[in-house]
Amino acid sequence: LHAIARPKDLAGLRIAVTAGPTQEPLDPVRYLTNHSTGKMGYALARAAAMRGADVTLIHGETALQPVKFTTDVPVTTAQQMYEAVTSRFEATDVLIMAAAVADYRPAAVANDKIKKKDGDMSIPLERTPDILGTIGPKKTHQFLCGFSMETRDLVENSSAKLTKKNLDMVVANNLKVAGAGFGVDTNVVTLITPDGTRELPLMSKADVADAILDEILKRRSQ
Ligand code: CTP
Ligand code: CA
Repeated sequence: LHAIARPKDLAGLRIAVTAGPTQEPLDPVRYLTNHSTGKMGYALARAAAMRGADVTLIHGETALQPVKFTTDVPVTTAQQMYEAVTSRFEATDVLIMAAAVADYRPAAVANDKIKKKDGDMSIPLERTPDILGTIGPKKTHQFLCGFSMETRDLVENSSAKLTKKNLDMVVANNLKVAGAGFGVDTNVVTLITPDGTRELPLMSKADVADAILDEILKRRSQ
């Protein structure tokens, strides 16, 4: 009923959403990752599809069911997510990067399982491609929405990402607020745009998704 009653106010819009963590392999049995479950990104993909958008959901490994009426693009690593986003970028009107992309990966991936030895173990790391940081400066018609997770100086740090990555909006999360962050069904976010900041109250991730899409729609039609 919810879906039927929804106005199709995003019809004709091509929206790419990234969600979930990336996994960066070390050897055939181990990888580096983070606590992202994908819930916020999936909620965005679901809300956008219900509102009539043409949605592509590019996601890392999650325990969530695919979202109906979206194009499902599973990836594993930051490099694969980079390729999935950039290859579709020209045919994207709105990119929402809700994924928690690993910033580092093991510099070398061992072909065989690494055996334990005596003494210290350290793993050389290298940077992964910064997806938004690479495409932000090259955008043409696209609206770019990033996410930012911080444990301190939320607005200052997130506003810096808006400018640095040439984004149109940043959805900022304070991990230290109750009801926000990993795994839960609610979120507390601040929407940051070049015009200022707007803090939203504690809401379900479904309602946060609709509020984000409302703001994007409003800003695109200005
Ligand atoms: N992001 C990205 N590619 C990366 C890392 C992050 O596109 N390799 C995107 C995220 O999906 C998010 C935004 O950039 O939408 C901000 O991510 P965040 O981790 O908060 O910022 P970083 O620039 O990685 O800075 P830091 O982790 O040092 O705070
Ligand atoms: Ca990061």
